[in-house]
Amino acid sequence: MEPYRSRVVEPIRVTTREERERFIRAAAYNPFLLPAEQVMIDLVTDSGTSALSIAQWAAMHGSDESFTGSRSFERFAAAARSVFGRRHVIPCHQGRAAEHLIAAAVISPGDVVLANTLFATTRQNFEEAGATCRDLPIAAALARDGAHPFKGNIDLEALEDGLRAAGGRVRLVVLTVTENSRGGQPVALANIRAASALCRQFGVPLWLDAARVAENSYLNVLRDPACRTMSARDVARETFALVDGVFMSMKKDGLGNVGGLIALDDDRWAEAILVRLLVSEGIPAAGGLAGRDLEAMRVALEEMFDDDHLAYRVEATAFLGERLADAGVPVVTPFGAHAIYVDGRQFCPHLTDEQLPAWSLSVAFYVHAGVRGWETGNVMRGRQDPATGQWRWPELDLFRLAIPRRVYSASHLRYVADTLSDLYLRRETITGLRFVYRPPALPQFIARFEPV
Ligand SMILES: Cc1ncc(COP(=O)(O)O)c(C=O)c1O
Repeated sequence: MEPYRSRVVEPIRVTTREERERFIRAAAYNPFLLPAEQVMIDLVTDSGTSALSIAQWAAMHGSDESFTGSRSFERFAAAARSVFGRRHVIPCHQGRAAEHLIAAAVISPGDVVLANTLFATTRQNFEEAGATCRDLPIAAALARDGAHPFKGNIDLEALEDGLRAAGGRVRLVVLTVTENSRGGQPVALANIRAASALCRQFGVPLWLDAARVAENSYLNVLRDPACRTMSARDVARETFALVDGVFMSMKKDGLGNVGGLIALDDDRWAEAILVRLLVSEGIPAAGGLAGRDLEAMRVALEEMFDDDHLAYRVEATAFLGERLADAGVPVVTPFGAHAIYVDGRQFCPHLTDEQLPAWSLSVAFYVHAGVRGWETGNVMRGRQDPATGQWRWPELDLFRLAIPRRVYSASHLRYVADTLSDLYLRRETITGLRFVYRPPALPQFIARFEPV
């Protein structure tokens, strides 16, 4: 059962298949370019799309919008210091702003960044600052199925080798919890502990991309017998104690429509980040956010660890995943908390990698049911060798159905499962697509396509 009830509703405009065919053609077969009004159920992201709680709205109404030193900032900073256990708390407008600030402040050309799996914007920001980024997922993460409970883990042997081989060039190690590229898989607290010990041994800071740290902590409670008697908040507290710094988009687990933060102890890094913040985001007591945004973030730091909220979230995601799996749809397992991922290549075996199976599936599903999801596969992660023109495709070409927090009901999710299962029965009708325009960075947002 949803542990909330609705007091404000937003009507959904019901569209026909003919309308949707017209809409997607006008959007150059890129679901990102569709006006939201043309989408019936929007599972493109769980980021910035949460329904705010009554407590968040109440706090926003009581915000202080003073230019600097506002009560809202003081309250937010006190709450964040207590959650993250760090002296410096730096707000900014969203996760990638935090990544950009860290990249601009501490990364130099020739540096190396090691990670379990960096999110696309993190990688882009660090690479643009001159770093070489290496993802070191465990082998189990590369398979669509399987029962490994912590497919988000970093490969500890590869981490040790990487730390040794790159010597002093490793600027930082990042654990993305949960990872968001191969299924929303959690990282085990034990893996974080072991990675932390290795980083300390080599004198390299360990950072957390904490966008979904509450869900990661809750999945540890469910899946690791050693965490069973802990709350999600306990696991998170222990997680934060094992790392040197945290950057976090507050638009995911942070239940905000906007916002991000950096939390750390290192005075020199904090000073360098603050200098960049002043240039590109705003003053240290706001980070470009309004007082009301800081209030929404402050309340969310409390609400995001609520066990009822987290239990329902994991349950709802599993409901969608299981219904799809029962219909034979090739979904990534085990299920994470924020999304269900479908294997595009297995769903559309008649399409080649060049015909962009998961992207083509996302377009076909929009036309079929009015549901929008996000491809995290060949379009988002494929790379073309500039010398040979050869494409390198990611191990998994996935279509992600991300579930906004506190927005859709079980009935909406049933509609999604049933219509996608129905499309699976007629999957050979899905037409492949090819690029008409591919921008050099983060192509998914503005690329254009045509049917093959
Ligand atoms: C794991 C992870 N890190 C960072 C980001 C970037 O955050 P934002 O969208 O707030 O810039 C995202 C966004 O989806 C993410 O999933």
